[in-house]
Amino acid sequence: MALYSDKVMDHFQNPRNVGKIDDADGVGEVGNAKCGDIMRMYIKVEDGIIADCKFNTFGCGSAIATSSMATELIKGKSVEEALQLSNKAVVEALDGLPPAKIHCSVLAEQAVRAAVKDYYDKNGIEYNAEEFVICDCDHCH
Ligand code: FES
Repeated sequence: MALYSDKVMDHFQNPRNVGKIDDADGVGEVGNAKCGDIMRMYIKVEDGIIADCKFNTFGCGSAIATSSMATELIKGKSVEEALQLSNKAVVEALDGLPPAKIHCSVLAEQAVRAAVKDYYDKNGIEYNAEEFVICDCDHCH
Protein backbone atom coordinates (compact mmCIF):
# COMPACT_ATOMS: atom_id res chain seq x y z
CA MET A 1 0.00 0.00 0.00
CA ALA A 2 1.27 3.44 -0.83
CA LEU A 3 2.46 5.43 2.15
CA TYR A 4 0.41 8.45 1.13
CA SER A 5 -3.16 8.48 -0.13
CA ASP A 6 -4.02 9.99 -3.52
CA LYS A 7 -5.66 12.88 -1.71
CA VAL A 8 -2.52 13.65 0.27
CA MET A 9 -0.46 13.56 -2.92
CA ASP A 10 -2.98 15.76 -4.69
CA HIS A 11 -3.04 18.40 -1.95
CA PHE A 12 0.74 18.27 -1.67
CA GLN A 13 1.27 18.72 -5.40
CA ASN A 14 -1.60 21.13 -6.00
CA PRO A 15 -2.15 22.86 -2.68
CA ARG A 16 -5.34 24.93 -2.52
CA ASN A 17 -5.48 28.47 -1.16
CA VAL A 18 -1.76 29.10 -0.99
CA GLY A 19 -0.69 32.65 -0.33
CA LYS A 20 -1.36 35.59 1.85
CA ILE A 21 -4.35 37.85 2.52
CA ASP A 22 -3.08 41.39 2.90
CA ASP A 23 -6.12 42.68 4.77
CA ALA A 24 -6.74 39.49 6.73
CA ASP A 25 -8.99 39.70 9.78
CA GLY A 26 -6.94 37.07 11.56
CA VAL A 27 -3.46 35.66 11.10
CA GLY A 28 -2.10 32.68 12.96
CA GLU A 29 1.41 31.40 12.94
CA VAL A 30 2.40 28.17 14.60
CA GLY A 31 5.45 26.02 14.53
CA ASN A 32 6.61 22.64 15.62
CA ALA A 33 9.73 23.03 17.70
CA LYS A 34 10.92 19.52 16.89
CA CYS A 35 10.79 19.48 13.11
CA GLY A 36 11.14 23.25 12.74
CA ASP A 37 8.20 23.54 10.36
CA ILE A 38 6.15 26.71 10.38
CA MET A 39 2.62 27.36 9.16
CA ARG A 40 0.87 30.67 8.70
CA MET A 41 -2.88 30.91 8.21
CA TYR A 42 -4.86 33.97 7.11
CA ILE A 43 -8.63 34.33 7.45
CA LYS A 44 -11.04 36.90 6.12
CA VAL A 45 -14.28 37.03 8.06
CA GLU A 46 -17.59 38.41 6.80
CA ASP A 47 -20.70 38.27 8.99
CA GLY A 48 -19.10 35.63 11.17
CA ILE A 49 -18.28 33.41 8.18
CA ILE A 50 -14.81 32.54 6.90
CA ALA A 51 -15.16 34.22 3.53
CA ASP A 52 -11.58 33.54 2.50
CA CYS A 53 -8.63 31.69 3.84
CA LYS A 54 -5.05 31.28 2.69
CA PHE A 55 -1.93 29.69 4.06
CA ASN A 56 1.80 29.53 3.75
CA THR A 57 3.64 26.53 5.04
CA PHE A 58 7.36 26.24 5.38
CA GLY A 59 7.39 22.59 6.05
CA CYS A 60 7.07 19.03 4.94
CA GLY A 61 4.70 17.64 2.34
CA SER A 62 2.21 16.45 4.92
CA ALA A 63 2.15 19.90 6.50
CA ILE A 64 1.39 21.38 3.08
CA ALA A 65 -1.33 18.81 2.35
CA THR A 66 -2.98 19.19 5.75
CA SER A 67 -2.97 22.98 5.68
CA SER A 68 -4.40 22.90 2.16
CA MET A 69 -7.19 20.56 3.26
CA ALA A 70 -7.80 22.61 6.42
CA THR A 71 -8.42 25.75 4.34
CA GLU A 72 -10.89 23.82 2.16
CA LEU A 73 -12.71 22.56 5.23
CA ILE A 74 -13.13 25.92 6.96
CA LYS A 75 -13.95 28.10 3.96
CA GLY A 76 -17.59 29.12 4.06
CA LYS A 77 -17.99 27.88 7.63
CA SER A 78 -18.70 30.03 10.66
CA VAL A 79 -15.78 31.07 12.84
CA GLU A 80 -17.11 28.84 15.61
CA GLU A 81 -17.26 25.86 13.28
CA ALA A 82 -13.70 26.53 12.12
CA LEU A 83 -12.64 26.44 15.73
CA GLN A 84 -14.06 22.94 16.04
CA LEU A 85 -11.90 21.64 13.21
CA SER A 86 -9.78 18.84 14.59
CA ASN A 87 -6.62 17.43 13.13
CA LYS A 88 -8.46 14.12 13.05
CA ALA A 89 -11.08 15.54 10.70
CA VAL A 90 -8.33 16.87 8.44
CA VAL A 91 -6.59 13.49 8.39
CA GLU A 92 -9.87 11.73 7.63
CA ALA A 93 -10.62 14.12 4.80
CA LEU A 94 -7.22 13.22 3.34
CA ASP A 95 -7.92 9.48 3.67
CA GLY A 96 -5.28 9.10 6.34
CA LEU A 97 -1.66 9.91 7.09
CA PRO A 98 1.16 7.66 8.29
CA PRO A 99 1.47 7.73 12.11
CA ALA A 100 4.78 9.56 11.97
CA LYS A 101 3.07 12.40 10.12
CA ILE A 102 0.11 12.98 12.40
CA HIS A 103 1.91 15.84 14.13
CA CYS A 104 1.88 17.71 10.81
CA SER A 105 -1.93 17.70 10.86
CA VAL A 106 -1.85 19.02 14.42
CA LEU A 107 -0.01 22.03 13.05
CA ALA A 108 -2.89 22.67 10.63
CA GLU A 109 -5.47 22.56 13.44
CA GLN A 110 -3.35 24.88 15.56
CA ALA A 111 -2.83 27.35 12.71
CA VAL A 112 -6.59 27.68 12.24
CA ARG A 113 -7.11 28.19 15.97
CA ALA A 114 -4.33 30.76 16.14
CA ALA A 115 -5.90 32.70 13.24
CA VAL A 116 -9.31 32.66 14.95
CA LYS A 117 -7.74 33.80 18.23
CA ASP A 118 -6.08 36.69 16.41
CA TYR A 119 -9.46 37.59 14.86
CA TYR A 120 -11.10 37.52 18.30
CA ASP A 121 -8.30 39.62 19.79
CA LYS A 122 -8.46 42.23 17.03
CA ASN A 123 -12.22 42.57 17.33
CA GLY A 124 -12.49 42.56 21.09
CA ILE A 125 -14.54 39.35 21.03
CA GLU A 126 -14.44 37.53 24.32
CA TYR A 127 -13.37 33.93 24.47
CA ASN A 128 -12.26 31.34 26.90
CA ALA A 129 -8.46 31.57 26.91
CA GLU A 130 -8.20 27.98 28.03
CA GLU A 131 -9.56 26.87 24.70
CA PHE A 132 -6.54 28.42 23.08
CA VAL A 133 -3.70 26.86 24.96
CA ILE A 134 -2.22 25.60 21.75
CA CYS A 135 1.21 24.29 22.51
CA ASP A 136 4.32 25.51 24.23
CA CYS A 137 6.58 26.16 21.28
CA ASP A 138 7.98 29.65 20.84
CA HIS A 139 5.70 30.50 17.94
CA CYS A 140 2.48 30.10 19.82
CA HIS A 141 3.25 32.59 22.55
FE1 FES B 1 6.99 18.86 10.78
FE2 FES B 1 5.56 17.63 9.02
S1 FES B 1 7.53 17.09 9.68
S2 FES B 1 5.05 19.42 10.12
